[in-house]
Amino acid sequence: MDLTGKVAIVTGASKGIGRATVEALLARGAAVAGWGRTAPEGLVHDRFKFFECDVRDENAVSEALTSTLRELGPDVQVLVNNAGLGIAGPVDGFKTDDWKLIFDTNVHGTFFCSRAVLPHMKRQQAGHIINIASIAGTTGIENMAGYCASKFAVRGFSQSLFKEVRNDGIKVTCISPGSTQTNFFDDIPGTTANDSMMSPADIAGFIIYSLETPFNFHVVEVEMRPLQPKK
Ligand SMILES: NC(=O)c1ccc[n+]([C@@H]2O[C@H](COP(=O)([O-])OP(=O)(O)OC[C@H]3O[C@@H](n4cnc5c(N)ncnc54)[C@H](OP(=O)(O)O)[C@@H]3O)[C@@H](O)[C@H]2O)c1
Repeated sequence: MDLTGKVAIVTGASKGIGRATVEALLARGAAVAGWGRTAPEGLVHDRFKFFECDVRDENAVSEALTSTLRELGPDVQVLVNNAGLGIAGPVDGFKTDDWKLIFDTNVHGTFFCSRAVLPHMKRQQAGHIINIASIAGTTGIENMAGYCASKFAVRGFSQSLFKEVRNDGIKVTCISPGSTQTNFFDDIPGTTANDSMMSPADIAGFIIYSLETPFNFHVVEVEMRPLQPKK
């Protein structure tokens, strides 16, 4: 897809992978709607608009889409489901509210945002949804059961949706990064972001690559890791 002039939505645009993706999309000429709870600090661009949206709230998601269509136009061709969080802890003693927060954000948010944009993409017979899963969605990790379960769910959702909408000209790509240097680890005891991790720009670069593939060439699912992580 040629991204010039296309409308792209990125959830969780304030920092990390989401913010890097917004910047990469702007550099490719897209008009970008950042959906999130917090605006990206200092990001001012004539093709960027921030719309307040907690992805856990389906009404907020449909309002953000209405505002995006009104302010950036109807040509919504890209959705990057990036907003997400992890909470660590053993299963015995894991708080119900924390479990629900992980699923409401990572799984239900991805569903709400995808469901909202699909009618537009189907009408255009074109579009591309990128879902950010994780290595944690490919294998279990001790003390990360809730996060892993949510990311396995994102992969199952992506694989199913890909088959559901491919004949409408819509691509669905699921990417599973390993450790990436963001604020993700701030609330995860025992791990801190470090220079041996991938950079958010690395992940954003791969997202752009996937979006720009020729129409009949589709990246369905990819795992990516730092070559030499900190030991
Ligand atoms: N970093 C890694 O190693 C890694 C590896 C694999 C996958 N991932 C995934 O990559 C994605 C981005 O994470 P990151 O590493 O860039 O972490 P991050 O720096 O913590 O950024 C997370 C983003 O998600 C937003 N967010 C969280 N809850 C939200 C909600 N309810 N509604 C809207 N936005 C919400 C945050 O917004 P606020 O600023 O408002 O909180 C923030 O913009 C996540 O899905 C994460 O699971 C990360």
